[in-house]
Amino acid sequence: MPTDSGVDRARLASLHDRERATYAQRHPRSADAYGKAGHLFGRVPMTWMNKTAGGFPVYVDRARGAWVTDIDGHEYVDFCLGDTGAMAGHSPAPVVEAVTRRLADLGGASTMLPTEDASVVGDELARRFGLPYWSFALTATDANRWAIRLLRAVSGRSKILVNSYCYHGSVDESLIVVGPSGAGVSREGNVGAPTDVTTTSRVAEFNDLAGLERELAHGDVAAVLMEPALTNIGIVLPTPGYLAGVRALTREYGTYLINDETHTFSAGPGGATAAWDLQPDVLTIGKAIGGGIPVGAYGLSAALADALLGRADLDLVDMGGVGGTLAGNPVSMAATRATLTEVLTDDAFAGMIATATAFADGVRKLIEGHGLPWSVSQLGARVEYRFANPAPLNGTESAASADGDLEDFLHLYLANRGILLTPFHNMALMSPATTVDDVDRHHEVFGAALSSLLG
Ligand SMILES: Cc1ncc(COP(=O)(O)O)c(C=O)c1O
Repeated sequence: MPTDSGVDRARLASLHDRERATYAQRHPRSADAYGKAGHLFGRVPMTWMNKTAGGFPVYVDRARGAWVTDIDGHEYVDFCLGDTGAMAGHSPAPVVEAVTRRLADLGGASTMLPTEDASVVGDELARRFGLPYWSFALTATDANRWAIRLLRAVSGRSKILVNSYCYHGSVDESLIVVGPSGAGVSREGNVGAPTDVTTTSRVAEFNDLAGLERELAHGDVAAVLMEPALTNIGIVLPTPGYLAGVRALTREYGTYLINDETHTFSAGPGGATAAWDLQPDVLTIGKAIGGGIPVGAYGLSAALADALLGRADLDLVDMGGVGGTLAGNPVSMAATRATLTEVLTDDAFAGMIATATAFADGVRKLIEGHGLPWSVSQLGARVEYRFANPAPLNGTESAASADGDLEDFLHLYLANRGILLTPFHNMALMSPATTVDDVDRHHEVFGAALSSLLG
């Protein structure tokens, strides 16, 4: 168990017990709902919903803007926002109107026919991210899977390279980390791997160009799949020159580059790609762009789209291995159009980033004021603290700074006082509806948590 987070373990354990008891006492209806869900595998709609510090999840009654109300009647400022799925805020009015119009007025949730909304979405994604051609999935995971298939097909190469401790959804190729010897090994939690991941994948540490070049030099990597900043093992920001170096190396070794902007979209209206002037061959995204309605998307460069469409031997129309009956459905497209054109607008991002800066500044001040050896990283509208200072520079370092007990305690302490963070992170995300008052409320409770920890 890590002991260098700057807190006394015995004190942490006793405070944690107290918070668990409070949580159980405050949530009798959620506990009851969990108890009754006997026919759900693991008692939850998806087993990852058991990642909850209180032993059972809070059950949602209502959610609007930056606020959630649970079935026990407690209200929360929601900094989790569906781990980015609700970055637009819960049920933003333009999305509700667009989906209602599509479902109730016009009709047609699943038609296998295009709607005009889709081309407006394509135009807007092209404007924001700079990639001219777009296709849709229902999740970011599938956008990544399909991008990988296309790039394997067009390159004739077999391997995908990812960063150690990345997360790109349950994409088989991504479940690899740099092992203690420096070689790639299967990641813990790689359940039911179809094959040894080292036969499909290569791995390099984030911020390590020499390591990347060593792997690319094998000449068998179809694509590098990466986030421009890691966001799933804390936020790990790129060091100056790193992303330019990745682009130069991928070009030198004939490897395609996929930017997964599913979370780094928080950096601005065109994600990190636009904010930092990046030039990927493919960009994948999901979650937030649908305003809460399932959608995934991938954008292709002109050269890549031409290369793919020019290949008569690739079956991209019928049995191509890239498909999904509900992908591009009218409801997803209506929701995405409304989200991009009316909710997560350029102006909205300016406000969200200002709110996130207030969040980061306040948390930093509290951590420093309590003399804790922690760090805070911000990526536009997204902020995360980590139990290490200076902030880790790669996934392995960041993984080593994890402290599950401390994280669980903080999450519970906050939840018991009306604040939700993402269960898998110490992450706070700002929606257009999140206010500086919401941030102040967090800081008051977070400060009290730190004071109780340090006695
Ligand atoms: C960077 C990144 N890509 C892809 C995904 C997968 O998203 P989904 O689970 O919505 O398919 C995630 C999920 O957290 C993610 O963080």
